[in-house]
This record gives sequence, C-alpha cells and structure tokens, in this order.
Amino acid sequence: MRRDAKESRIVMRVYDIIERKRDGVELGRDEIRALVEGFTSGRVADYEMAAWLMAACIRGLTRGETVALTDAMRASGGYVDLSGLPRPIVDKHSTGGVGDNTTLVVAPVVAATGLPVAKMSGRALGHTGGTLDKLEAIPGLRTDLTKEELQRQVQAIGLAITGQTADLAPADRAIYALRDATATVHSIGLIASSIMSKKLAVDADAIVLDVKVGRGAFMQRLADARDLAETMVAIGRAAGRRVGAVLSSMDQPLGRAVGNACEVAEALQVLEGEGPNDLRELCLELAARMVLLADGAADVESGKELAAQAIESGAARDKLLQMVEAQGGDVGALVDVARLPRSRFEVTLRAPRDGIVQRVDALVTGRAAVAAGAGRSGKDGMIDHGAGIALCRKVGEAVAAGEPLAVIRASDEKRARAAHELLASAYCIGPEAASPRPLVVEAFDT
Ligand code: URA
Repeated sequence: MRRDAKESRIVMRVYDIIERKRDGVELGRDEIRALVEGFTSGRVADYEMAAWLMAACIRGLTRGETVALTDAMRASGGYVDLSGLPRPIVDKHSTGGVGDNTTLVVAPVVAATGLPVAKMSGRALGHTGGTLDKLEAIPGLRTDLTKEELQRQVQAIGLAITGQTADLAPADRAIYALRDATATVHSIGLIASSIMSKKLAVDADAIVLDVKVGRGAFMQRLADARDLAETMVAIGRAAGRRVGAVLSSMDQPLGRAVGNACEVAEALQVLEGEGPNDLRELCLELAARMVLLADGAADVESGKELAAQAIESGAARDKLLQMVEAQGGDVGALVDVARLPRSRFEVTLRAPRDGIVQRVDALVTGRAAVAAGAGRSGKDGMIDHGAGIALCRKVGEAVAAGEPLAVIRASDEKRARAAHELLASAYCIGPEAASPRPLVVEAFDT
C-alpha cells in the first residue's frame, strides 16, 4: 500500500518527536500540537503515543511543554461557552485518590448555595477512582453531555457533571485511557495538562484543585504535590481564571467506601448530614474555598457555614437529585440506595490481633478495589459498579482480634479472594496510638 506524501511526513515526524523526548530535548509547541492532532485524528497510533507518553513520564515535561500539551488537548474539541448565565461559575478537580467521592458532595453543595457549577470529570485512572464511573453506577445516568446540553443544564438547574466526549477534550479522553493501560500516569506534566485541558474547555471563572499527596496519590512526596499544584494554578491563572488549590492527605482512603455504587451511597449519606467525618470535613473545606474564590463568602469559615447550611436544609441533596434526573439517571436508586448495583460475593477481612490501626495503605486498598472489579484492567476493560470495599476500621481506631477490618464485594469468589489478599497487606495494627498527618495539609491562596 502506497502512503501519500502527507501521511509519510506525519509518520516520520512522530518518530522524531518520540526520539527527541526520549533524549531529553525540549519539544516545541508545534511538535506537541502535531502529536496531539495526529493522535486525535487517528494518524498517530496507540503504540506511538504510548511510547511518547513513557518518554514524557521518564524525562518529565518542562512548563512550556506542559502548557503546549494543555492547549493542544483543550483545542482538540470545542469550548463550552456559558456566557449569559449568572456569574461566577465554579468548578473543582481532584488529582485522583482512593475513596475520593468529594465531587458528588461538593458540586451539589456549592450549586445549592446559588453558584452555578459546570464540571468535566474523569474516569478511574490506575488505582484511583473516577467520578464518571461513580456516576454511571446510577442506572441510566449519562456522562456524555454535548456542549449544548451542558449549557442548557447549567442554565436550568445550576449544576452539570459530564465527561470528555467527541466534542469536548477528546484528546484527553483517548490519552487518559492509554495512560491508564501503560503505567504512564505518574507525571506532573501529564497530570497537569490532562486536568487543565478539561478545566479550560469549560467557561468556569473559579476553579479549586484538590491535589492529593501521600501513599495513594500520584504524588507521594509533598514537594511533588506542591509542584503539581503550582503548575496547574499557573496554567489556570495565565488563562485568566481564578484558581486555588488545597493539598490533602491520601495516605489512607477517604471515607469508608471504595468503589463506585458504594461511594455514591456514601456521598448521599454526607448530603443527608451523616457519613464519615473525614469525608465531610474535606467536602466542607473544598466547598468553602470554591465559594470564597467566587466571592460568595468573606472567609473560609463563613464559606464552611454556608456549605453546612446547604447540607442541613436538604438543598444540596435535592440539587444532586435534580442533576441525576436531568442527566437521565434513575432518581429512585438514590432514594432507595439498595437499588444501586451490588456485587454478589462478600468476603470479610478480620483483624489478626488486638490493637490500634496504624496504617490503611491507600495505594494497596485502591489496587484491592481494582482486583475486586471496581477499576479497569486494560484500555477497554469493564467496570463492575457493584464491586468495592467498605472499611470498618481506619487509622487510629481500636480493633479486637477477629473483628472485621473491611468487607469486600465482588462479582465472583476469585476476585473477592484476590482483593482480600491484597487488602490484608494494606492494614497494619500495633499497640501504640497512631498519628496520621492532617487531612488538609495546606492550601494555596484562594
Ligand atoms: N485527573 C485527571 O483528570 N487527569 C489525570 O491525569 C489525573 C487525575
């Protein structure tokens, strides 16, 4: 088969781009744009992009390359223009964690305070969960809104959460799936550009970034988490947005549920004024910072009060239900969470000795959840929305030998056993009191 001149020029060029990145040369904007455009249009193959991503992971991306990649991925699709809507419009994004269902709480809470929220989320990545997969645990719910549908929904109810589509950040959608399958997630430049391309594709004024740090985060060292936060804040501000960041601990999973349907149910508990304290605390912090950044409160404390009122009045829960209905989801499954997917096999992990839980390793717990079926294996892998882990004990809590530490759900016994084996190594029990680092490690001026 004869290649036309244009095609072979592109193939040659991709080889060069991979080679230059492999050798640590800083790429130009035009090279990065050509790579992303080529991949989005199908002229650059998965194997070529995967090789480039690995080179980018190992060599790192400069700030200039990161900005160019963000712009190229954002420009791969359209822009959601929200002019004409009440301003300011707010958004948030997490860099990825285990048991991190904050968006399902924070977005409706902030929308219930009267600030429109328009958000493009992501899927599970590596051992971490993704908001889109969690939302899709609700039967019927759509996460592929078109630009026009997103605009209309934010106009009508003040809240929409959608995913990358063929017309919204399609390059991020495809590269994200490839990174998930090729161990190329852990890179400040790739994470920053993936997140900021989604954020800048939507016309939000104020964006709060929850940058996770610790065992279960992509950034395990505080210095790297700060670098990631600074990179994203700088990209957002250069694009004229108000951007703030919170660094939060991901040493142990957030809350007590790790999975998809079970995290939806847990988010509802928080919206009903219950649920785990750590999850509620972080949700109030993030919601307060979103409100503050949008000039809706004088300081973080009054922002937290507004957020707490939105929960206590039931307005935030109602807002989530409105969003689910607007996106075609079965609201009945939120009213009666027993209707959410629930996998058949259940295995309990029991404490081998008396003591105090010293560690629940978030990375290993995330891997155990994937083994149970809550995450993907492979690029086109399926998610079992009913699989997951309920943590009965977390760091600092006492347990007696034989008492449950966690309950695992999976669709078959083999998966449940594999998850059980992994999860057993996530727990460490000792005689002394535990001293985890604070949940909110630090905040960048918002
Ligand atoms: N969230 C994203 O959207 N992209 C990443 O790369 C990591 C977390």
